[in-house]
Amino acid sequence: MMTSAAIRQQFLDFFKSKGHAIVPSAPIVLKDDPTLLFTNAGMNQFKDYFLGNKKAPNTRIADTQKCLRVSGKHNDLEEVGVDTYHHTMFEMLGNWSFGDYFKKEAIEWSWELLTEVLKLDKSRLYVTVFEGDAKENLPKDEEAWNEWKKWIPEDRILLGNKKDNFWEMGDTGPCGPCTEIHVDCRTDEERKQVDGKTLVNNDHPQVIEIWNNVFIQFNRKKDGSLELLPEKHVDTGMGFERLVRVLQQKQSNYDTDVFTGTIAAIETITNKKYDYSDSKQAIAFRVLADHIRAISFTIADGQLPSNTGAGYVIRRILRRAVRYYYSYLDYKQPLLFQILPVIAKQFENVFPELIKQQDFVGKVIKEEEEAFLRTLDKGLKLIQEVIEASKASKIIDGKSAFKLHDTYGFPIDLTKLIATENGLGVDEIGYEEERKGQQEGGRSASALDTEDWIIINEGSESKFIGYDSLETKTKILRYRKIKAKGKESYQLVLAETPFYAESGGQVGDSGQLIINNSPLIINDTKKENNLFIHFADAVPAELSGEVIAKVDVDRRKAITVHHSVTHLLHAALRKVLGTHVAQKGSLVNEEHLRFDFSHFAKMADEEIIAVEKIVNEKIRENIPVVIKQLPKEEALKLGAMALFGEKYGDVVRVVIIDPAYSVELCGGTHVGNTGELGLFKIKHESAVAAGVRRVEAVCGKAAEEYIDAAFGVLNTIKETLKNPKELSKAIENLQSENAELKKRIENLEARQLVGIRNELLQKDEIINNVTFIGSIIEVPNADALKKLCFDLKNHIHDHVAVLCSNIDGKPFVAVGISDVVVAAKNLDAGKIIKEHIAPLIKGGGGGQKNLATAGGQDTSNLKAVIEKVKSLL
Ligand code: ALA
Repeated sequence: MMTSAAIRQQFLDFFKSKGHAIVPSAPIVLKDDPTLLFTNAGMNQFKDYFLGNKKAPNTRIADTQKCLRVSGKHNDLEEVGVDTYHHTMFEMLGNWSFGDYFKKEAIEWSWELLTEVLKLDKSRLYVTVFEGDAKENLPKDEEAWNEWKKWIPEDRILLGNKKDNFWEMGDTGPCGPCTEIHVDCRTDEERKQVDGKTLVNNDHPQVIEIWNNVFIQFNRKKDGSLELLPEKHVDTGMGFERLVRVLQQKQSNYDTDVFTGTIAAIETITNKKYDYSDSKQAIAFRVLADHIRAISFTIADGQLPSNTGAGYVIRRILRRAVRYYYSYLDYKQPLLFQILPVIAKQFENVFPELIKQQDFVGKVIKEEEEAFLRTLDKGLKLIQEVIEASKASKIIDGKSAFKLHDTYGFPIDLTKLIATENGLGVDEIGYEEERKGQQEGGRSASALDTEDWIIINEGSESKFIGYDSLETKTKILRYRKIKAKGKESYQLVLAETPFYAESGGQVGDSGQLIINNSPLIINDTKKENNLFIHFADAVPAELSGEVIAKVDVDRRKAITVHHSVTHLLHAALRKVLGTHVAQKGSLVNEEHLRFDFSHFAKMADEEIIAVEKIVNEKIRENIPVVIKQLPKEEALKLGAMALFGEKYGDVVRVVIIDPAYSVELCGGTHVGNTGELGLFKIKHESAVAAGVRRVEAVCGKAAEEYIDAAFGVLNTIKETLKNPKELSKAIENLQSENAELKKRIENLEARQLVGIRNELLQKDEIINNVTFIGSIIEVPNADALKKLCFDLKNHIHDHVAVLCSNIDGKPFVAVGISDVVVAAKNLDAGKIIKEHIAPLIKGGGGGQKNLATAGGQDTSNLKAVIEKVKSLL
C-alpha cells in the first residue's frame, strides 16, 4: 500500500516532470485579502496572477496547500465527522497554468497521473463538464468534452450545471467553467446493481469527487457581471485525503494513514474504540481527528483563538471538538492538546511550522480547552432545559441561543448542532437580533461595502518606491468608493507610490496627493493582495493628469525608528529569555511599538532592564542597517528569522543589523544606522494570551517625550515635598507619619465615642417599659453612629435608640433595638428607617430588625425623627 506521503510526492514529481515549479503551501490564515479569512483553495495565493495584477514568476506551478472551508462561500463544517469525506482543514493538491497551457494539457495530464502513474481503475472514473448557462450567457464547454472524449467513453462524460461545474472563488474574483473527476469506490456487486453514473454528485459516500480542473477565464465583479480576463488559466484542486482513501482502498478518509495515527492516540487517551459507523462515539473520533488539524495549523500560522474574525472561527471549531469528547467520549479534561504531538510529527517534513512551535501551540490549545470546559457543563444543563421548554415550538428561541453564546461560550453552530440532535431548530434571526442589540453602542459591525473600480489611466500598478523616495510624480490608475459604518470614502491606486502600505505590523503611510495644485489628504495606505490602496475622504472631479504623491515625512520617520528598534528588541529578547521567543504579532506606529512573542512567564524586572540595556548598547554602537535582496535559501543560511504564517517569495528582503546580532526577513522601512534610534525604553510588559507576552516600548523622539513626561511628574512631586535630598526616603517618612497619625485619630475617636456613649446612657427615659435613647450628636462619620448603637447594646438590654447627626451638612440616622424589644414590641429598625425616617430626611436606607441606618439631604427634621420613633413606643 502506498503511504500518503508517497502519494503526495508522486503528485508533485509528476507535475515537476511537466515543467512545473513546486512551491510551498501559503499560510492557511490570510492577511491581505479582505474578501477571505482563510485560504479556501490552492489558487488563493495566485489570485493576482489570474486577474493580471501581477506577473507570475513561473507560468507553471504546483503544490500542496493547507485549506480551511468553514466560513464564507465554501463551508463544510456541518458535514465534518458526520460523514467520512468532508474536512475542515484539508490538503489541496494543485497544478496551475498562468496564461500557459489550457484544457488540452490539463485534461490529458490529470488522466495520465490518475490512470498511468497512480493506476486508478479507469472503469471507475467519471468526469463532468459544464453544460452552459443561458442566464449568464455561457455556452456548453464543448472543448473540454472533446478533450475528454480522447480518453474516456462518452457515456461516462456527464454534463453539470453552474452550481457544480462553474467554479468561483467567492462572491467576486477569478472564476470559470470546470470539469470534475469522480471515482466510484463501491464493490463490483453494488456497481452491477446501480449504474455509477446516476450517483455522481449525489452525496453518495462511495462515489466521490476527487479532482476539479477549473478553466479560469472570468472575473466576477461586484455588480454580478462577468468580465473576460486578459489571459486564460488553469486552476486545479485535488482533495488529498480523498485521493489517499481511493488509492489505499478504504471506505472512509479516516481509515487512511492520514488519520489512523491520531485516531489510535485518541483511543489510548480515552480508552474507547473507534469503528466505522454513524454512532455518536464514532462521529466524535472523526471530529477530533479532523478538528485538531485545523486548530493546530491555524495557530501555528499565527492566528490565536479569539472572539472575532478568523480567531473566532478557530474557537468555534475547538469548542465543537470539546463538546464531542465531553459528551460522547465521556472525557472531561483537555484532550486535543494531547494529540497535537502526533500531528506535529506526522507533518514534520510537509508543514514543519507545527513541530517547530509544538510547545507554544499545545499551550494555547490546552488553555482554550480549559476555559471552555469551565462553563461547558453549566451550558449543557441550560441547553437541556431550553430543549425541554422548546419541545412544543420545535425551535430554540433567539434569546436562549444568545444567552448560551454570551454566558456559556456556545457558538451558534454548536447550539444548532445540539438542537438538531434533539430534533429542534434555532431561531437564528432572533439570535442575530439579540447579538446586535448587545453590540449597539459598542463596536458596530465593520461591514465594508465596496463598489467596482473606475479606471482612470491604464498602466502597470503599485510600483513601490518608498524605500528610497518619499515623493514622486505619478498617475492615478483607478479608484473606487467604499462605505463603512455609514461613511463614504475613496480608495485610489497609483502607478508608482512612495506610500508604505500597512504590513508586517508597520502602519501605512499618510500624506498628500497634489492634484492640479491642490492637496488631497491621504489618511492611510493598505495592501490588498499586491495592490497598494490609498485612502482618501473625497476625490476631485478631474483625476486623469499627473499627480505628486508626498508621504508625511515626520510621521514616516517616527514609524521607521520604531520598526528598526523592534528588530533590536526581538534579538535582545531571544538573548535574555531564550531562543523559544518567536514573534507572534507586532504593531509599529509613530507613537510606539507593540511586540507580542511566545514566552511562558511574566518578565522579571531584571529581565526588562537587561533587554533595555542590550538594545541601548546596540543603539550606541551606531551599527549600519544593511538591507539585501537574497535568495530565500541563502537568507535562511545567514540565520534570518522568518515568521511563521508569512508568505515569502523566492527572493527575500533581509534586514541585517550586525550579522551576529539581528538578521530578519522583513519588508518594512528602516533607519540607516542604529544611532538614529536615540534611546529605547520599555513602557509596559503584559500577557495577551496563553503563552504570549506583550512588550510596549518607545524610541527616538517618542522615548524622549516619555522620559520628559515621567520626569515632569517626578519634579512636581519633588517640589510638592519641598525638594528633599532623598525623594524616596522623604516619601517613606511621609507614609509612616501618615500611618501613625491615622492610628492616633482612630484612638481619639474611639475615646470620644466612649464619652458620647456614657452621656447617652445618662439621658435615657423609660417609655412603656422600654428604655428610650434619642439624641442629636456630633460624630466624625456615619459609621460612628452605627458603632455607638452596637456599643449601647453592651450596656442596656431592653432599649430603643435613635441617634442622629449632621455630618458636613447631610443628615445621618441610626436606629438600634435590643433583641428582646424587637420580639416583645414587634418592632423592626429596618422598617422604621424605610417607612418613617427616610421620608423625613429626604433620603434612604435600611438594615436589620435590630440595627438600621439612613442618610439623606434634609437636616431640618432630625428632632422630628426622634419624636417619631418615640411615638412608635
Ligand atoms: N479552485 C478549485 C477548487 O477549489 C480547483 O475546487
